[in-house]
Amino acid sequence: MADKARVAVLISGRGSNMAALIYAAKADDCPFAIALVSGDKPDAPGLALAEAEGVKVVRLNSKELGKTYWNDLQKTLDDGGVDYVALAGFMKIIPTDFVSRWAGRMVNIHPSLLPKYKGLHTHQHALDNGDTTTGATVHLVTPELDSGEILGQVEVAILPGDTAETLDRRVLIAEHQLYPRVLASFVSRPLDAGWIEGRVDALVSALPHVIRKTSHGSPGWGVGSEKTAKLFAIIADHHHGEQAVGLLVKASGPDEMTGLIEAQGDIYYWPKYYGASGWLGIKLNRRDVDWDQVADWLERSWRACAPPRMTKLMRVAEEF
Ligand code: GRF
Repeated sequence: MADKARVAVLISGRGSNMAALIYAAKADDCPFAIALVSGDKPDAPGLALAEAEGVKVVRLNSKELGKTYWNDLQKTLDDGGVDYVALAGFMKIIPTDFVSRWAGRMVNIHPSLLPKYKGLHTHQHALDNGDTTTGATVHLVTPELDSGEILGQVEVAILPGDTAETLDRRVLIAEHQLYPRVLASFVSRPLDAGWIEGRVDALVSALPHVIRKTSHGSPGWGVGSEKTAKLFAIIADHHHGEQAVGLLVKASGPDEMTGLIEAQGDIYYWPKYYGASGWLGIKLNRRDVDWDQVADWLERSWRACAPPRMTKLMRVAEEF
């Protein structure tokens, strides 16, 4: 499978979830590859397993490195061409600037059905509260502990007589199923046309007087009233054999378009048929899309297509 997402797994101990990810990544159709395994403890037992499986291991000692630890870890991830970080029993509190650098690209597995039981001793809390089910959650990592967007969960029944230890063992089996499955669908999201369209739709909804329209069957957005709306953005999903799931927006003309395509051919392209009418293609089925830039293009295209009275209102509003 071409274009696999490169995942770094960070561990502090046993690494059984890491192992589950390594074995899942051995399947040809798995959308991620394990680029490297690292962590904060050079003697974490899981590291030896990763090495035995031929996965690159970078041993870092956070105690010895002190303040430089996070820079060294960042450099390790940069050098490894890492797209995503998967925490698997990584026991260090992560500084906010490191979390921001990996915002939307760092995930964790937690042994409870979040938002229930953040932090430690989750199984004991579930037992103390008389719960009949518990489980595990894969979530995005944000500065607040165990609070990022939930990407997937699995429920595990609590049996009479269960202790924190028995529960831990059974939840772990469920974790090993959950993590690879959720990570696989998470890393596939940015290349999925439906997900891309949803993301563009959310950005477009910030603009005034927008309605959904189609262009020769492709989803798009127009500005104006139901009758007169003029298209300013179109999603071209592998249009006429093109590689891109592209966003088509209005550029100022062929000079700007050819300039952008020559300078940044991995981002911009000349869309078949549409290019001739001034539509610029922005390839969105990439892992490194700058969504702020996409928002700017949408606004620019909206302005180019909106009737003068609407852009005038916007200019007036901006003056305040
Ligand atoms: C797992 O229970 C996981 O949910 C939690 O830490 C434990 C790590 O176990 N975050 P392992 O090192 O993956 O075996």
